Amino acid sequence: MEEHMNNQAVNQVEDHSGNQDSVHFGTQSSVPTMTPVAHTYTISVIGIGRVGLPLSLSFCKKGCKVFGVDVNQDHVNAVNGGTMPFIEVGATELLQRFIGREFIATTDLRMAVQGSEVIIMTLGTPVDEHLNPVFAQLESALKTIIASLKPGQLIILRSTVSPTTTEHIKRYIEKHTPYKIGVDLFLAFCPERIAEGKAIEEIETLPQIIGTLDDVSAEKASAVFKLLTPDILVSDARSCELAKLYCNMYRYINFAIANEFMMIAEQHQRDIYEVTRLVNTGYKRGGLKQPGFSAGPCLYKDGFFLVNRTPFAELISTSWKINESVPSYLIEQMRAMKDLQGAKVAILGLSFKKNIDDTRNSLSYKARKIFLAAGAEVVLHDPFVERKPLEDVLRGADVVLVAMNHDAYGALTPEFLNPLVADGCIVCDIWNMLGTGKVFNVLKNV
Ligand SMILES: NC(=O)c1ccc[n+]([C@@H]2O[C@H](COP(=O)([O-])OP(=O)(O)OC[C@H]3O[C@@H](n4cnc5c(N)ncnc54)[C@H](O)[C@@H]3O)[C@@H](O)[C@H]2O)c1
Repeated sequence: MEEHMNNQAVNQVEDHSGNQDSVHFGTQSSVPTMTPVAHTYTISVIGIGRVGLPLSLSFCKKGCKVFGVDVNQDHVNAVNGGTMPFIEVGATELLQRFIGREFIATTDLRMAVQGSEVIIMTLGTPVDEHLNPVFAQLESALKTIIASLKPGQLIILRSTVSPTTTEHIKRYIEKHTPYKIGVDLFLAFCPERIAEGKAIEEIETLPQIIGTLDDVSAEKASAVFKLLTPDILVSDARSCELAKLYCNMYRYINFAIANEFMMIAEQHQRDIYEVTRLVNTGYKRGGLKQPGFSAGPCLYKDGFFLVNRTPFAELISTSWKINESVPSYLIEQMRAMKDLQGAKVAILGLSFKKNIDDTRNSLSYKARKIFLAAGAEVVLHDPFVERKPLEDVLRGADVVLVAMNHDAYGALTPEFLNPLVADGCIVCDIWNMLGTGKVFNVLKNV
């Protein structure tokens, strides 16, 4: 396979202006040309999940050869068969264009690393049942590749990590190899900031952050990411680790504010959407977010990468408590309006974010648990996850919880719902998809 990757003689490279130049893979073009041609790379992307797979395809688009490495054999088989394992706009077309040529998925991590100039780690970094960060995937991959590393390689950490992780990785590599970072091997932390579903577009439109512990690594990592975008922000690794976490936590805290304000408005029998309109309209210091289910594999856990060594920083953990309590708050309110014992509840939207199929850490499942504990019968719907006819799910419902603001739910109106649901059905519409401006709607009474 390595031979296949290295012997691809000529391929088309899209430069930043969209021009096409012919180059030999991994080298400067041997064809004299007036336009300088960007150097391309052989890259191993370790972990071809939601982050690694779109990133791999984006580098292929720029003329790189990519080994996409994953431990999940089914996932690797699907990718090699040209099938995207999840929804990502524009990715299927790229996968089918590059697979078996510029892009090869494999479980053979050592082989991939031995044949690569650049190694990008896009492994999962979840939290455990005590909400402590778990870096087992990173540790396992590092252990596997450590003996295969060779001088000149650039290692890029793309996973979200705790501050100081890049420094730990430098120490680990220097302890277990004869090589020095910044001299023989190069190391950078270049965080991923895409929104799932928009990865292919955002990889090339968001500025790329390059965090390193030495200048040579910074130059080398910048050159790689300049293939994707001219917008490169270089800083020290720890600042970049913090910046990634702050990007997510700033949003998360703002969602918590919106959710808490929603609860307070309800306490005053007022509608949060009306209050938000008053706050935001024409007021330059406004910008209040709308309430909603705020969770998912990043927002749910990234705060714990910051606070587990700073126990007195309450804002992040309080935001987590507020956002995680939204399902129980909403259900308690509905329980005060209607006996949920034996009620038919339809939950619409199961993913953690609109218009995607990723259900990790989605609050919809927490809501289902609470409804079931209250004795309700729960049916689920999601156009990307549980593809049942919406009408069937809604028929006879006593409660409808619009848990995610998928575009498809923009068609929900009281007129559409009324003939389907039971009399006096409560529609809990935290996203205001019905456009009534009310979180709780009693149907036939909207
Ligand atoms: N999903 C997002 O929108 C997003 C956005 C920004 C940052 N991040 C961060 O990026 C990282 C990756 O997230 P993700 O959502 O892509 O996770 P993911 O679970 O979708 O992908 C990780 C992949 O790594 C594979 N894997 C596990 N152990 C391995 C090993 N030892 N060797 C090779 N492959 C292995 C898994 O099978 C999986 O396919 C996380 O740190 C996450 O916090 C995610």
